[in-house]
Formats: sequence, C-alpha cells, structure tokens
Amino acid sequence: MKIIVTGGAGYIGSHIVKDLIDNGNDVTIFDDLSTGKLENIDSRSIFIKGNTLNLVDVNSAFNNNFDALIHLAAFKDANDSMLNMVEYSNNNIVGSLNIMNACIKFGINKVVLSSTAAVYGLPNYLPIDEMHPLNPLNYYGETKKIIENTLQWYSRCYNLKFAILRYFNAAGYDSKNRIKGLEINPSNLIPIVMETAIGKRKKIEVFGNDFDTKDGTGIRDYIHVTDLSNAHLKSLDYLVNSKKNVIINLGTSIGYSVLDIIQMTEKISNKKVKYSIVDRRIGDPDSVLASNQLAKDILEWEPKHSDLDNLIRSTWVVYNENQFR
Ligand code: WQD
Repeated sequence: MKIIVTGGAGYIGSHIVKDLIDNGNDVTIFDDLSTGKLENIDSRSIFIKGNTLNLVDVNSAFNNNFDALIHLAAFKDANDSMLNMVEYSNNNIVGSLNIMNACIKFGINKVVLSSTAAVYGLPNYLPIDEMHPLNPLNYYGETKKIIENTLQWYSRCYNLKFAILRYFNAAGYDSKNRIKGLEINPSNLIPIVMETAIGKRKKIEVFGNDFDTKDGTGIRDYIHVTDLSNAHLKSLDYLVNSKKNVIINLGTSIGYSVLDIIQMTEKISNKKVKYSIVDRRIGDPDSVLASNQLAKDILEWEPKHSDLDNLIRSTWVVYNENQFR
C-alpha cells in the first residue's frame, strides 16, 4: 500500500516507517522535524518536511493517491500540556483536523490514529479496557480524546475507517539498532534514567515512594516500540480486510515500578543511577495497566518484545553508543 505517516521522523514513527517498508509498503513521511530527527528517516521512504498547521504543506503532501494515513504528529508531554495549552490546541487539535480534512479531500479512507492511555485518566479499575470512562487528567490526554471523537464523527459522515490505538508507555528501541536518534529533553521515565546512567544528568527525581505498590513507586505498563509498530501493521491489514472501525489498547497488562526500571538499568549498564525521592506529581496514579485482550482477539496481536530486560537493554545500546558520538 501507499501510506503517508505524519510524525514519521519521531521516536515511534521511525520504527513504524521501517516496518512498513520492510513489509513492502511505499511510505511517505510528513514531519516538521520539531521533535523528529533527520537521522531517523529511512532512506527508502519519501520525506516531505512540512507542518500540519500549514495548509499549503498539508494539501500538497496529501494530494498523492495514498491508500492510508498513520497519524502520529503531536506533542506528547503531559506536564508541558498543562503549561502550554494553546500550543497543544494548535498542534494536536488544529493540526490533526487539518490532516483529517485532507484525508476527506483526497480520498484517503483508512486512518490509523496514534492515541494514548492518557485519555483514561485515573483508573477506576485495572487492567484498563477500552470501555473504561475517558476522563483525561491532563490537556495532552484531552487533545487526543477530542481528535478520537472527531475521527469517529467523520467516519459516520464520510467513507472513512479508522483504527484508534491507545498506547500505554512506549519504550525500547529497534532490536536491529537501526534507530539511533535520542529524544530531546525527554520527560518520560526511561530516557531520563538512561541520561542519568550515561552521566548527562546527575540524578533522577523519583516522584513519590508512598504509592500503594510493591515498593511504593509508580507502576506503569511499558510497551516496546517494535510491539507498537507491529500493531500498526496489523491494524492496517484489519482496516483493509474487515472495513470496520476499532479502538484498541496497546500494552502488556504487566507493570514495572520506577525502581524496577532503575535497578534493571543499573544491572544492564553496570552504571550507578543516582536518584532522590521527591513529592508525587499531581494526578499520578499508583498503577496503570492495560487490558490487551481486544488487540489479541481483533488484531491477533500480542507483545513479544516488551519484557523488562529487552525494554532496557535495547534502549541502553542506543544511549551507550550515543554518549561516544
Ligand atoms: C512513568 C513513571 C512517574 C519521570 C505519560 C503520559 C503520556 C503517555 C505516557 C504518550 C510514573 C515516574 C517519571 C521522572 C519519575 N505518552 N517518573 N521521575 O506519566 O505514566 O505517562 O507517558 O502517550 O506522555 O501519560 O509516563 O514516563 O512520565 O512516568 O519518578 O523523572 O515514572 O511518576 O510513575 P506516565 P512517565
């Protein structure tokens, strides 16, 4: 198929682009490189530098007979979204509306949307399934909920089918070590632990150790980007073959604590990861775990790369290598 991937130069997008091309698809990347990296771009793809807020960029890029869209371009920092709501409204909502409107304009009728577990907010129950209420705790999650809803309305009005994929905590790196671009100023746990291990940070602040968990630190469901990527390819196949809409969680239903991540990083890197315990972040739940039963049943997908050792080892390889570049 001929596929356009917005955000295809990003951490997750670059993994998806490689797998799409490895599986015989023609891929065009649409990315403004605001957070994505040129070094992540697969030379087998067509790269169009463009911004989702620039309608000239969007219309000229999308007017190329694509069969499907994978839309990843968005800001994703939960804390930042609470301090810069206008930027998140523009980039995540207006930008995504421009992209979806271009799909209608140019007849792209299969859309895979990158969404997030952040749409759920505080868990009412665990593991979280797709029927769980949507009560985002941060504006990042709200922007994704708004776009999810718009996509569902569009599907009722136009000939468009979607797969909304709600990522839990994306982590890890390509096992073939083909992706080497590190996230810039990360706010997520694992890249911060890695920056501490290579000495780029003096220590990591652990946000609370009084949670109702085995060691008092927060537990999250970390899903390897290769497993995420596989789910995108299976979602495209599903949209082509079934012509039905799906909304699916992508996680493992297994949780690891902050200290699990720190201790595994020390073990694999043979480096000391200094940390101090500080106050909780407002709104942080004790544990977040995904039910992935729907993904197993509908996509015939299940995580194969998301064990803790591989999550940390595949990331350490890239950070360790980068510190000498
Ligand atoms: C993980 C754990 C923190 C940093 C976010 C957002 C959203 C989504 C998933 C894309 C928590 C703890 C973290 C630190 C810490 N991404 N932590 N010290 O908050 O679960 O979810 O990522 O869709 O961006 O919802 O991820 O990596 O911020 O935190 O102690 O310096 O690590 O308290 O327990 P989170 P995270």
